[in-house]
Amino acid sequence: MKVILFGATGMVGQGVLRECLLDPGIEQVLVVGRSPTGQRHAKLREVLHKDFTDFSTIESDLTGYDACFFCLGVSSVGMDPERYRHLTYDVTMAAAKTLVALNPNMVFTYVTGRSTDSTEQGPVRWARVKGKTENDLLKLPFKAAYMFRPAGIQPLHGVRSKTSWVNAIYVVAAPLLSYLARTSPKFMTTSEQLGRAMIKVARDGYRKPVLESEDINAI
Ligand SMILES: NC(=O)c1ccc[n+]([C@@H]2O[C@H](COP(=O)([O-])OP(=O)(O)OC[C@H]3O[C@@H](n4cnc5c(N)ncnc54)[C@H](OP(=O)(O)O)[C@@H]3O)[C@@H](O)[C@H]2O)c1
Repeated sequence: MKVILFGATGMVGQGVLRECLLDPGIEQVLVVGRSPTGQRHAKLREVLHKDFTDFSTIESDLTGYDACFFCLGVSSVGMDPERYRHLTYDVTMAAAKTLVALNPNMVFTYVTGRSTDSTEQGPVRWARVKGKTENDLLKLPFKAAYMFRPAGIQPLHGVRSKTSWVNAIYVVAAPLLSYLARTSPKFMTTSEQLGRAMIKVARDGYRKPVLESEDINAI
């Protein structure tokens, strides 16, 4: 597979990038980001881009791929609601619409989170925004689209969050998270397991479009 990865500098994306570079079935990884990953690898190519609502200037770079791992995303904590909606919905849909037009046979995988609200009507704002994003992605004419809803993610192999308070929690709670990752698949996965599951689903498909933490861990 030739794959495109968004959010490769973040906690989820670092884990997915590591697994992509290790996977012999992936021949090329194109990272699209606003800052460099700092990594060098024969399979890795990076495109730096500024406006994540308009990809028209890099369309030729985005053509000819089999799968996209969309790991770009932000926490809603402390963020202006409209900014959160813009970064979650507008940015994701702009990328997805460009990609599906250029690569109609692409499989698109998107990382949201546990408790995402598919009804778009519930009381929690972030969950409604993620739910609408998932629902609208699933309407696009990709070969297939899969929504990954991890709960907690134990960072492995040096993976770190871009968000300092998330990092602090993961460092302080490392022993507990490690225990939960082994015993509570509903509430915890690892960055390695999530990356491997996304690759496997992009390659082989899955029996349903929305994968919860326990599905991710069972793959
Ligand atoms: N971490 C968890 O435990 C966890 C659990 C469940 C679900 N999730 C979900 O997974 C997704 C990714 O989370 P994460 O923990 O990997 O986040 P993160 O560590 O904060 O990384 C965020 C990524 O998004 C990019 N990004 C943020 N704002 C951007 C913007 N305006 N334009 C372009 N790129 C931007 C960042 O790029 P820069 O390096 O350029 O800033 C970085 O690559 C989110 O949707 C989150 O809700 C995370």
